[in-house]
Amino acid sequence: MAKTIGIFDSGVGGLTILSSIVNEVSDSVEYHYVADSLYAPYGAKSIEALLERSRRVTEFLISKGSELIVVACNTATTQVISSLRAEFDISFVGIEPAVKPAAQLSESKRIGVIATANTLKSGLFKQTLETYASDCETFTRIGEGLVEAIETGELSSVELNDLVRDHVRYFNSKEIDVLVLGCTHYSFVSQLFEKYLGHGTSLVTPNEAVARRVQSVLETLDSEARSVRSIYVYSTSGNLWSLKKLIAAENLQVDQVLQVQI
Ligand code: DGL
Repeated sequence: MAKTIGIFDSGVGGLTILSSIVNEVSDSVEYHYVADSLYAPYGAKSIEALLERSRRVTEFLISKGSELIVVACNTATTQVISSLRAEFDISFVGIEPAVKPAAQLSESKRIGVIATANTLKSGLFKQTLETYASDCETFTRIGEGLVEAIETGELSSVELNDLVRDHVRYFNSKEIDVLVLGCTHYSFVSQLFEKYLGHGTSLVTPNEAVARRVQSVLETLDSEARSVRSIYVYSTSGNLWSLKKLIAAENLQVDQVLQVQI
């Protein structure tokens, strides 16, 4: 068996994780990425609906030979990754808001987390806050409107600029010194967040940590490296134009972009 990694997100957001993984992983691997854009956003879906989508996408990625699946979505990780691990006999790596590094980095002990409604209300997130940030005052906010705006692929739109500015205004008013981007989509506009955040406020994502985790799980698998790296990207929506635009924004060299019905 040759090394194959499956990755999925509700849409384009996980491409930011895919590019961190591609930069970190030394072996030539075949990547299969699913943007479940027809069913995005995941942020306010019921657990049943999230599990149903995640299950279907997982089965598709396994049919492509994936031996490791990266749930490149904070919402799906915090809500359903434990069910996926119980149902499927392969390795999963998830992503959740980087609260631990944020708490360690914060000097004022006032941190912010922007994420989806489902992530913020999840038991896993609350537990992470209790375990790693009990010495911090934490301000959370749902990134209302951001996923939908980023899915359009129009990263320079006035609408997106104003949305980010308004979300950041809330955090600036709380005088935080670290902000966690708790949704993979938001990394596409990290520069906009930086533009509006107060001086001395750092932005934290878990992208590099997830990529290192993927590398270490890969090392435990018996499969062999390939001679070349290849990347296949699938979307459940017919709008491949915005997907291609965001692939280019991440500088990803992709072999094929296809629409799939899952
Ligand atoms: N990108 C996803 C996350 O990290 C999901 C966003 C959504 O679909 O609401 O949570």
